[in-house]
Amino acid sequence: MADAPKSATLTIGDNSYDLPIHSPTAGPDVVDIRKLYGQAGVFTYDPGFTSTASCDSTITFIDGDEGVLLHRGYPIDQLASKSHYLEVCYLLLYGNLPSAAQLEEFESLVTNHTMLHEQMQYFYRGFRRDAHPMAIMTGVVGAMSAFYHDSTDIHDAHQREVASIRLIAKMPTIAAWAYKFSIGQPFVYPRNDLDYASNFLRMCFAVPAEDYEVNPILSRAMDRIFTLHADHEQNASTSTVRLASSSGANPFACIAAGIACLWGPAHGGANQACLEMLKEIGTPDRIPEYIARAKDKEDPFRLMGFGHRVYKNFDPRATVMKQSADEVLDLLGVENNPVLAVAKELEAAALADPYFSEKKLFPNVDFYSGVILEAMGFPTSMFTPIFALSRTVGWISQWKEMIADPQNKIGRPRQLYQGETTRDYVDIENR
Ligand code: SDX
Repeated sequence: MADAPKSATLTIGDNSYDLPIHSPTAGPDVVDIRKLYGQAGVFTYDPGFTSTASCDSTITFIDGDEGVLLHRGYPIDQLASKSHYLEVCYLLLYGNLPSAAQLEEFESLVTNHTMLHEQMQYFYRGFRRDAHPMAIMTGVVGAMSAFYHDSTDIHDAHQREVASIRLIAKMPTIAAWAYKFSIGQPFVYPRNDLDYASNFLRMCFAVPAEDYEVNPILSRAMDRIFTLHADHEQNASTSTVRLASSSGANPFACIAAGIACLWGPAHGGANQACLEMLKEIGTPDRIPEYIARAKDKEDPFRLMGFGHRVYKNFDPRATVMKQSADEVLDLLGVENNPVLAVAKELEAAALADPYFSEKKLFPNVDFYSGVILEAMGFPTSMFTPIFALSRTVGWISQWKEMIADPQNKIGRPRQLYQGETTRDYVDIENR
């Protein structure tokens, strides 16, 4: 006989309420509280959503205690070593690894949509030269809804597919042009004879004055960084995209909202903040000073690139990123990189300190990525745009899943109100 459906009983005063429990294919059970307010007249309370599942999903699974990250069931370390970014994009978007023919068709589709509408370049000229590239990306991606009207109807499956391909294909061009604009160099157009990562590197680093040959070491490292950042369950920026999409907003506006959220130093902005922190530390002998600051409750300083809301053992992406940092810097002949030396000493010192081990704080995906990106020639201001470029496929995959979910409705959390109760207006002469 099938197991009886599980439920939880909540007792409030003299009343008890049965709440259904749903079991996943992996991870914790969930207590379904959707009817609680209607039955018991109470809200649940979970600032930061530390114990709240916001949706059903089949895309990415994370086990924070075991350091597991699966994309459609495939472990991230296998994808990072055996696959490549556009194949991972296909996997995230469509649920399974593609056949050779399916992959060829998908890569051709993406390759042939990398150019922007020619007029979009004029948006860049509206920014100051010293604008942060994330400000430019937020603006230009949002502006795509003013150009690509034929892929904004979220109820049309074909338009959703067109918008998905356009965003994945054009994000490297948008990010590279934000970089070129910030350094006063001319925009470099994408080329159809280059793979995704090589195209991005060429658009960033080529100049009209000379030929540019993509270093295969750099393009492989770039592709791996894209893969390691592709999706990550219901993180802050993905939840932003889902919440924005729940109102029926068009995909370009929703992805622009995700970019804005990712920019924060507690989230995707941590890779820039981490490298700036490593450079501020400068030499291993100053590490104890910064460890002490990170532990001091009176000091707002935190170790950037350390800690994670979900991973409480290790971040499997950081493990791959650390290996890649060693390989790339060695192959580039900068294995004696002082910043990498500080990063490794800082990691060892922090992990040996009870404060960090007790609070389960250790390097996350952002700790080593900046070291690689700087060695590849990127300024710190381009680190988060590269994260946004990589995560676009994750945002889009989660967006498509949500739109197709029959349970999809506008997201509208409630609150624990702590303000004034009703009081009458007092005329100014009587105050
Ligand atoms: C990303 O969600 C995702 O999946 C995100 C991401 C993705 O792929 O989308 O993985 C990408 O955002 C990675 C995280 C990048 N951020 C940073 O590296 C910034 C530094 N880290 C912290 O800001 C923090 O660890 C968070 C934001 C990452 C996690 O914060 P939580 O889960 O809310 O944890 P918390 O702030 O409640 O911290 C718990 C304790 C606190 O001390 P107590 O109040 O218990 O005494 O640990 C301390 C914190 O003060 N703490 C740190 C610390 N991180 C947490 N102390 C020093 N240095 C740190 N980095």
